[in-house]
Amino acid sequence: MKINLELLKELERSINTFHPEKGRIPIKILGFGEISLVFEILKDPEHLAYKRIPIFDNEDQVKRHIWAYNAYCKILNQEVGLSLPAYDVTWFKDDNGTIQFYCVQEKIEAKSVGNKVIHEISDDEIYIFVTLILREMKKVWSYSHNNPKIDLGLDGQISNFAIINFDVQNPKVDFNTKLYYFDTSTPMVRINGAEAMEAVLFLKSAPSFLRWLLKALFLEETVGRYYEWRKVAIDLIANFYKEQKPELIPNLIKLVNNFFAEEASEFNIVPITIDEVKKYYKSDKNMWVIFQSFRRFDRYLKTKIFKKKYEFYLPDKIKR
Ligand SMILES: Nc1ncnc2c1ncn2[C@@H]1O[C@H](COP(=O)(O)OP(=O)(O)O)[C@@H](O)[C@H]1O
Ligand SMILES: [Mg+2]
Repeated sequence: MKINLELLKELERSINTFHPEKGRIPIKILGFGEISLVFEILKDPEHLAYKRIPIFDNEDQVKRHIWAYNAYCKILNQEVGLSLPAYDVTWFKDDNGTIQFYCVQEKIEAKSVGNKVIHEISDDEIYIFVTLILREMKKVWSYSHNNPKIDLGLDGQISNFAIINFDVQNPKVDFNTKLYYFDTSTPMVRINGAEAMEAVLFLKSAPSFLRWLLKALFLEETVGRYYEWRKVAIDLIANFYKEQKPELIPNLIKLVNNFFAEEASEFNIVPITIDEVKKYYKSDKNMWVIFQSFRRFDRYLKTKIFKKKYEFYLPDKIKR
């Protein structure tokens, strides 16, 4: 993979996390998450997606993270059998000595990403799509089940799956459709019970005045939930509230419960109820709304009061 390091260094010189597209190097935002900013460099012939993750304080941290990332991707791809877009990582110290870390991936078609796809296909095709996602998940949890030393987690949001060879002009999903899983930058793998990545990095995007509190109260819960298939499935279903398709949720719950009872009966997963999904969605939504407002306050303190750089991109209000 041809990564232009000089271009990234130049980009870091002028990036403005308030308005990332207004720096000297022209970029286009492809997406963003709670801590990451994903973009392409315009006119880049390589068709790459850069995911900027500004959470590292020192070299040991970043090296360990790269090790965990490579281990996670390799297991998912070569042993579990998930399809991942071609991937790489790169990092350097910028002019201020700050570590800048990027996950780099083959750029995938924006319209083929799950949260876009579900607005282009029929409800019946959505149910097939969700079944295909459950089959990918089954591979992951079967692997963990058969390998007592290794435990894998997955972020099962619909926006983390994309359709391979998606025909934008004629969007279709059937049981032969193949999926990419691409949200691999948070390596969720435990080897002999120990988290491969440094778990506190999960909280790195939290304002420093909250981090100790979040760590004490929620770290185990936040990290742990990605390792439990049932919780990951609840998260996937609850996504349909955020994606403005709540009317599908009762059928999706039935579908997931049938899948657990039939295709994954060996996992003995207790059926999911609508109340659980509602409750989960409400608490998750509240948590993010509160969290985002604390982050805005933190950004205000850092940039306006202390005149420092704020490393994260904060999206405008997300419709949830
Ligand atoms: N390789 C890629 N090509 C095109 N778009 C991408 C790529 N990777 C991520 N994105 C976009 O950015 C969004 C966030 O990326 P993701 O890897 O899921 O990060 P997060 O951990 O922040 O959810 C995705 O939902 C997608 O829209
Ligand atoms: Mg994601």
